[in-house]
Order: sequence, then C-alpha cells, then structure tokens
Amino acid sequence: MAVPPLLTLLPLLLLLLLAAAATVRGATIDPGDLSVLEDLRGALTNPDALGWGAPGTDPCGGGGGGGGWAHVSCDRSGRVNNLDLKNAGLAGTLPPSFPKLTALQDLSLQNNSLAGPLPSFRGMAALRAAYLNGNAFTAIPRDFFDGLGDLEEFALDGSPLNASDGGWAVPPGLAAAAPQLRKLWLQNCNLVGALPDSLGALTGLQELRLSYNALSGPIPPSFATSGIQTLWLNNQRGDQKLSGTLDVLAGMVHLQEAWLHGNQFSGPIPTAIAACKQLAMLYLNGNNLVGVVPMALTALPRLNDVKLDDNHFLGPAPAFRTPNASFSHNGFCSDDPGVACAPEVSALLRFLAEVGYPVRLAWARNDPCKDWLGVTCDQGKVTVLNLPGYGLNGTISSSLGNLSTLSDIRLHDNNLTGHVPDSLTNLKSLKKLDLSTNNLIGPLPAFSQDVVVSITGNPNFNGTAPPGGDAPQSPTPSAPARSQGQAATPGNNKNNNKRSVLVLAITIPVAVSVVALLSLGAVVLFCKKNGSVQPQATSSVVVHPRDSSGPDNLVKIVMASNDSFGGTSSGTSSQDSDIHMIEARNFVISVQVLRSATKNFSQDNVLGRGGFGVVYKGVLHDGTMIAVKRMESSVISNKALDEFQAEIAILTKVRHRNLVSILGYSIEGNERLLVYEHMSNGALSKHLFQWKLHDLEPLSWKKRLNIALDVARGMEYLHTLAQQCYIHRDLKPANILLGDDFRAKVSDFGLLKSAPDGNFSVATRLAGTFGYLAPEYAVTGKITTKADVFSFGVVLMELITGMTAIDERRLDEETRYLATWFCQIRKDEEKLRAAIDPTLVLTEEILESISVIAELAGHCTSREPLQRPDMGHAVTVLVPMVEKWKPSSNEAEDYMGIDLHLPLLQMVKGWQESEANTTTDGSILSLEDSKGSIPARPAGFAESFTSADGR
Ligand SMILES: *[C@@H]1O[C@H](CO)[C@@H](O)[C@H](O)[C@H]1NC(C)=O
Ligand SMILES: *[C@@H]1O[C@H](CO)[C@@H](O)[C@H](O)[C@H]1NC(C)=O
Ligand SMILES: *[C@@H]1O[C@H](CO)[C@@H](O)[C@H](O)[C@H]1NC(C)=O
Ligand SMILES: *[C@@H]1O[C@H](CO)[C@@H](O)[C@H](O)[C@H]1NC(C)=O
Ligand SMILES: *[C@@H]1O[C@H](CO)[C@@H](O)[C@H](O)[C@H]1NC(C)=O
Repeated sequence: MAVPPLLTLLPLLLLLLLAAAATVRGATIDPGDLSVLEDLRGALTNPDALGWGAPGTDPCGGGGGGGGWAHVSCDRSGRVNNLDLKNAGLAGTLPPSFPKLTALQDLSLQNNSLAGPLPSFRGMAALRAAYLNGNAFTAIPRDFFDGLGDLEEFALDGSPLNASDGGWAVPPGLAAAAPQLRKLWLQNCNLVGALPDSLGALTGLQELRLSYNALSGPIPPSFATSGIQTLWLNNQRGDQKLSGTLDVLAGMVHLQEAWLHGNQFSGPIPTAIAACKQLAMLYLNGNNLVGVVPMALTALPRLNDVKLDDNHFLGPAPAFRTPNASFSHNGFCSDDPGVACAPEVSALLRFLAEVGYPVRLAWARNDPCKDWLGVTCDQGKVTVLNLPGYGLNGTISSSLGNLSTLSDIRLHDNNLTGHVPDSLTNLKSLKKLDLSTNNLIGPLPAFSQDVVVSITGNPNFNGTAPPGGDAPQSPTPSAPARSQGQAATPGNNKNNNKRSVLVLAITIPVAVSVVALLSLGAVVLFCKKNGSVQPQATSSVVVHPRDSSGPDNLVKIVMASNDSFGGTSSGTSSQDSDIHMIEARNFVISVQVLRSATKNFSQDNVLGRGGFGVVYKGVLHDGTMIAVKRMESSVISNKALDEFQAEIAILTKVRHRNLVSILGYSIEGNERLLVYEHMSNGALSKHLFQWKLHDLEPLSWKKRLNIALDVARGMEYLHTLAQQCYIHRDLKPANILLGDDFRAKVSDFGLLKSAPDGNFSVATRLAGTFGYLAPEYAVTGKITTKADVFSFGVVLMELITGMTAIDERRLDEETRYLATWFCQIRKDEEKLRAAIDPTLVLTEEILESISVIAELAGHCTSREPLQRPDMGHAVTVLVPMVEKWKPSSNEAEDYMGIDLHLPLLQMVKGWQESEANTTTDGSILSLEDSKGSIPARPAGFAESFTSADGR
C-alpha cells in the first residue's frame, strides 16, 4: 500500500536531485551567456590563460559531457553565476557584451592585466560581489552601477580611470543604485571631487576604502549615522585634500579603523570621540589638526594603534596605553607623555579651545612669551592678550581669570558669544578690557573702576539703552555720549572722565594752553558763529606734553570716552578687524640693513621726532633714500605695538600716488621699525609756515594749487576709491609731505579709521588736531568723511593765507582761529585780499584763482556736514585750475600717471632676498604680499599723539 505513493514521488525526488546537481554542473548553458563567454575569450590577448575548454564544449558541463569550463559556475538553468578568474594573468579587455551575464553573482577578476574601458555593469541585478581590483582599466561609464540592486562588495582599486578627463567622481546616485553595498574599495583609481553625502545613506556600508585618490572637501555629515567600521581616506593626492573637522567621527560608533592621514583635516579631535568604543586603529598623522588631544581619546578601550604625528596639537603630550602610538612633530608642551603644561599655558590653551582654535594662532610649546601671536609678556609674565579680529568664535574662557598678570585684554571685532566670565574680575592688574563688536550677552560682572571696559557693538548685550546710532548725542561735557554697554554699568562715568585725554603740543606753558583751549573751543570749531554747542573739554584733563621740536606747534586733542561715542551697533565695523588678519612676510626687512642705512641710527640722520619714535633718514646701498621710524623701546609695550600692528595692516590696504608708501618693517627683539619712502622736501607746514627759519623759498601759487589737488586726490581715494572707506581724521600741513618735485602725498595714517560700507558714520574716539576738527566730530565723536573735508578746507585757507590754523600768538584775537575768521572775511574782497599770504605775487589771474579756492574752502568748512562737498568735488574744482596753471617745466609731466611705488617695492623684495638669512622669522606681524605699496606716515615726524590708550 505504500508503494504507489512512493512510485509517484520518485520522479519528483529525481528532479530535485538533478536540480541540485545542476547548480554546479550539468545544465546546458544559456546561449546568451555562452556568447558572452566567447566574447570574453575573444577580447583577451592570451585566451589560453583562461584554461577554458574548446569551443563547442558546454561551460556549464551540460549535454552529459565532462565537467564544464574551469573557473565558471552555472545555475540549474544554465546561467553563469560565478566567474572566478583572479590571479589568472589575463590580458586584454572586458567585452561590451559582458553585462549580459545578468545571473552572475560573484565576479573575481582581481590581479590580472585587464585594460581598456570598463563596460557598464548596468542591470547586472544578481551581482553580489565584484572584484575588479588590481587591473588597469582606463575608463568607467557614468551608469556603471545603475541597477546593481544586490551588490554588496565591490573593488576597483588600482586602475587609472578616466585619466584623460582628469579623473572621475563617485556617482552621486551610487547609494540608490546599489543600496546593499557593504564593502566599497575604490583606492588609487583617480577619484576626484567630494564624497557625496548620499554615501552615508548606505546603511549597510561597513568598509569604505578610498585612499590615494584626489578627493577633496569634508567627510559628509551623513557619515555620522553610518555603520562604517573601516574608513580609509588617507593620502589624497590633489592640491586640495580632504578637509574640514573630525566632528563627524564622533557619531561613527562602529568605527574600528580610521585611516585619515595625509590630508588637510583641521580643528581639534572632538571629545565626543569617546563614543567610538570600537576604535582600534586611528591614523591622523599629516593633517592640520589642532588643539589639546582629549583624554577621551587616550581612554578609548580598544585603541591599540594610533598615529598623530605632523599636526599642530598642543598641550600635554598624550599618554596612550598602547606602545603603538606616535605623535612627533606637534606643539606639545613636553615630549614626555602626560607631563602638564605651565599653568599660564594651560589657561591660554583653554581659552583657545573655547574660541575654536583659530587657524592663525599657532600657539605651541610651553612658553607663551615666545612667538605667540597676540600675546605680550613683561618679564616672562603674560600681560597683554591682543586678538582683535581673529575670528574668535565661541565663549570667553573663565580660565583667563587665572592669568593674574594680565593688564590688557583686547578681543574686539570677533564673534564671541555668551557671558563675560566673572573670573575676569579677579584680575588685579587688569586695566583694559575691550570686547566691543562681538556677540556677547549681559550682564557685565562688576569690574573695579580702574578697568576700562568696552562692550559696544554687542547687539544682544541686553539691559541697555536701545541701539540705533542716530539719537542725538549729549553735548554736555560731563556726560559724553555713552555706549550701550557702558550705560548698563553704573559707575563708568568716572572712568569716562578720567580717561578723557587732552594731548597738547605747544610751546607755550601747558597750563595756559589748557585754559585757552577750554575757553575758546566753541568759537574755534565753527565757520558760522553759533554758540549753541559747548566745547568738548571735560573737567578732568590729562596733559601730555608733546615734543616741541615737531614741525607744528599746534594743539592736538584726543577725547576718549571708553573708546566710543554714540554706541551704534551698526556703526562700528568688523571690517576694521581684518586689518589685523594680514599674513605673509613679504615686507620684513632686517634691522641690520636699516642700521647700516641710517648709520646706526645716527643723530645726524634724524628727520624728526614723534609721539612714540624718531624718524631717521636712511640710504640703502643702492642709493635709495628711505625714512625709518623707530619706536622708542620705552613705549613699545602693548599700546604702541598694537598701533604699530594696526598701522602696517591698514597701510597695506590703501595705496595711491598721493599717499605716502610704506616699504617694509622690522620686528627684532625690542626693535620696531617702519620704513617709508623718503619725501625729500619734508612737510608742507615747513614750507608754508617756517620757510624763513629753514631758509626756503616761499611756495608759489602754482605749487600750492598742485599741492591742493594732490591732497584732494589722495583724500578722494581714501574716501571712495580704496577697497573700503577710510577716514584720515588728522589732515593738516604737517601730515602732507612734499617730494623733490613739490608734489604732495598725504601721510600719517595712525588715526586712519575704516568706515563700514553704506554707513559712513563711525562713532569713534575723538582724535585729531585742534583747529582742523569738524564741529560735529568735536561734539559728538561721530565721524564721517565730511570731517576730513572740513580739515581740507582749513588746509586750503592755510595755503591762501600762509597762516596756521590756530596760533595763540597772533596779536589780533579774531585771527587766532583761522577757520572762523576766514569764513567771516572771505566774501569781503578787500579783507580777503589783505589776508592773502604776502609772499604771493598777486596778478589778476592769481587773484581770481585765489577767490575760487577761497570759496571752495568756505564750502568745505560749512557747519553742516551735508553742505560740505565731497572730495571728488574738490578734485573737480581744482583740476581745471591746475591745468590753467600748468607749468611749462616738466614738473607735472614727470609725475602724472606714473606709479612710483612699483619699482620701490621691487627694490624692497630685492633686499629681502639678499637678507633672507638674517630676517627674523615668525615675527608677530606680517604683511599681505605684494601689490601693497603701502602708504603711510612719513618721514613725518608730526607723529600723531600718543593717547593714553592707544589705537
Ligand atoms: C597576483 O598574481 C600573480 C600571478 O599572476 C601572483 O604571483 C601574485 O601573488 C598575485 N598577487 C596577489 C596580491 O594576489
Ligand atoms: C569616463 O570617461 C569615459 C570616456 O571618456 C566617459 O564616457 C565616462 O562618462 C567617464 N566616466 C565618468 C564617471 O565620468
Ligand atoms: C562659529 O561657531 C558656530 C557654532 O559653533 C558655527 O556654527 C560657525 O560655523 C562657526 N563659525 C566659524 C567661522 O567657524
Ligand atoms: C557667530 O556665532 C554664532 C553663534 O555661535 C553663529 O551662529 C554664527 O554663525 C557665528 N558667526 C560667524 C561669522 O562665525
Ligand atoms: C538678558 O538676556 C538674558 C539671556 O539671554 C535673559 O535671560 C534675560 O532675561 C535678558 N534680560 C533682559 C532685561 O532682556
């Protein structure tokens, strides 16, 4: 009874057995697959290497014949499902028909000599593993991976793909086309471009090897959620390698091997790397990584092979448990693992960490007093932290409170956020804290009254007066307009007054001049008499006697109210900051060269003396004349250094034939030297006011007109034509220098202020020279380019009259203040005529010309800034007059249109090369390369004043 069922089952069992056998051998090959195999054989130059049977035999072993072809496996329906041809020495190409093997699951062609373009594998839907590595294929089609829905393992390392097109990119659609990928090896095969974010969407991806290509850009954020265990991205070969931070690693919790060496990764090792518990091998050598190596890394439980060499790591050298760890060529405090840094260094490094380790601050080793950019020391102790505009991005570390010797912290023009830490109030020596133009929030800790805190330009610093620049500022002397931040801090008024500074440079007794200034200010400042505004002098005045040997005996004032009048948040500009960001060392000149050029700074070579230095004449070995400003070592401290830095930086931004050029600078030891082009005829003031004393010819009207035009052009450039708007703030004859052709250049940019685009009103510390100050600037401290126009008007008056802007000694009281007096008389022909410089030989033509200039001067000094023309207008007025007076000599021709700067700069480069061995290295300051011929202070002596607080 059991038999019939058994008999009926027998054919079925046989079928099953046959089917089982057929997956290995025995089925008759699909004719389509057969022709592909024959194509393959035909595409090889050494077909015998395949070891395949003769044509006509069945590769699958079908038709009862013996056994099929070597290295070929078929499924039961006669489809080829496995080709195992690795290490077979095959040479030739893959035929275009190859992808018709649509049942192929496993393909091993690695380590042969196959070449030529790869056919597209598009549509090989059964393909599970394809090893094509170790060949020399020359091209890969874009649609190669399309429809490889089962592909799990793919390797193509070592082929020089698409070399003639400059390489190929990881197809952006790869993840969608081959969603099952587990292993992707594309090393050394000419991959270029970025890693597509979609790679991170390959949830099954475990092994990604892309070393030795020319990939660039960051590791995409999507990698943070991937399951990648092996990540080889090392040694990219392009100019741009892989870059960005390693933050994404922290999310890659399955990571076991990370080879990231030989790239441009930057930023610190994230502390969140603690999550990578499986990490065993980490190669980060040869990148741009920074910061302190986190404990989280040394504590990783499985880490047994780690390389950190050749980066910019700081702090204590890491103490790894594995002996397989290397970390040479970094900036560690000590070579010995685990040895702590000096406490000051630790505090500074914590500060650095919180502001995101700005790239330019390559603080390294264990001595902040040695070459740490922005850190100044006094007797081995850190006293100044000067990092304005350094792109500091983050919070202010409370660790700064541990630097007990800090006296001056300048972090303005950055992107600092959060609160001002209370710990800063512990700093007993702190005098100045400048946090303006950041993104800090209040409240401000209670600083002692000796600390000058500046917090303006922090738009979210709350609890303060409403922002907005145009509210009228209080003109009363005892309450100069306060900034937002200061308004929030009671008790700052005292500071304001204390810091109001009046700098005098006058030969008459100081006390007298102060009194005179106080009583006369209101009268002096305006063209039209209008007593409604009070003078700005305040009840508490600091007097800085100036060197009286300077060429001008004028009163200069600096009014300071914690740095800023007005308190507009939009008015202060962070553009100001990039002046500090200049890199490169193209203008460094060795002190040795300058010593020999100035006969070792001989007294005979002194051209003048200024607020913080002496200017020397010098001659280079090739005969070129230069002017060298040498800062006095006594003032080299913080402020002077800061100004030095600011000046050089600004000067690289502006260059014009009517602005004096800087040629270079030196910083060696205590020396701070600036080198300018030499202006052989010195300051205009000398020729205008002191010609007798110096035994000079008085200037002809022709020359004066030329000078006026030159100055107007230089100022026009500063205001509108430079990359950004600059305001000179201290235009006057002492700052106008004359070359041997008597053509003029404006100099002395120590007070130059950059104004933000579109809003040319900058609230600033009042600075300038009394007698040339525009009234609105004197009163509100808000400056626009129109303040320079005012000063220019005064200079025109001086050119006409030969009188200084202000002179206490003039007998006729009315005439003591030129601007006021001139405005009164200029419309009266008789009086104007009487006021003209007696050295001028008056003809009808000259008189006519003078009356035009007198009118221009009047407009320029209009009380309302809006009524003053801009410098462009002055140029327009002056050009036809100069044309008219164009001398027949070559005075003008030689000059016009020639940029005198270029040869000078080339010359400078020449010295640098010859001095390459002696120049300092890694100095605090460096300059933008090149094109900058940099205008600057002159042989200009008439140094602006030193104010009590720099800048
Ligand atoms: C590649 O193949 C050759 C023989 O053709 C063999 O000697 C060599 O070991 C193979 N290399 C690899 C990495 O398999
Ligand atoms: C590689 O080059 C071939 C031939 O020049 C071209 O057809 C193909 O699209 C290129 N592949 C990629 C991914 O760009
Ligand atoms: C500054 O930090 C913020 C938040 O950490 C970040 O979003 C921003 O990109 C950073 N900016 C720069 C320039 O690093
Ligand atoms: C400044 O910091 C804020 C907050 O961290 C950030 O959103 C912004 O992107 C930063 N700006 C710059 C220029 O880095
Ligand atoms: C000031 O800002 C802080 C933090 O943003 C906030 O908690 C506080 O309420 C604000 N105070 C005022 C008066 O806006």
